[in-house]
Amino acid sequence: MPAVAAENAITVQNLLAAFEGESNAHAKYTAFAVKADEDGLHGAASLFRAAARAEQIHAANHARVIGQLHGHAECEIHPVEVKGTLENLKAALAGEQYEVATMYPGFLEEATAHKNSLAIRTFTGALEAEKTHARLYGEALALLEAGKKDSWIGEARDFYLCPVCGYTSESKDAHVSCPVCGYAWKKFEVVR
Ligand SMILES: [Fe+2]
Ligand SMILES: [Fe+2]
Repeated sequence: MPAVAAENAITVQNLLAAFEGESNAHAKYTAFAVKADEDGLHGAASLFRAAARAEQIHAANHARVIGQLHGHAECEIHPVEVKGTLENLKAALAGEQYEVATMYPGFLEEATAHKNSLAIRTFTGALEAEKTHARLYGEALALLEAGKKDSWIGEARDFYLCPVCGYTSESKDAHVSCPVCGYAWKKFEVVR
């Protein structure tokens, strides 16, 4: 099997870090969804499940590019520390904010400097979805902190996911096609 080309070494290292981050986020949000249902916060549980599915799509996209660049996608899944849903939302929000503000912009800068279009595409898809996740986790956290369990965080609800790039939306009527990758809206997955 061919080795990773020298000019792609850092990009592949970054892809592996992103693959690990997304894979662990998937495991974390899946566990947080179970806890949110136990806490009677079924809308927050729906959000955790939708974000978990998006992270799984990101992980698969990153893994595909790692393979295309002759790397090997492998990572460790760490045990998840599950607390109450308020704390879990804070942890989820902090993770998304790190990815949006630091991790993906840095990785994109490096991939752009090396004109690596495959890496640019998969990092961009993840970055855009994480912005929405951060916004939605922030909303859910604010509602829970205000004690508004009768808001959307209390009732199971649908989220809409682009199966190609992981773009996540809470609104059914928002789009004709994915605003990030252009995929047909009618083929979006519904996660509840
Ligand atoms: Fe996310
Ligand atoms: Fe998309």
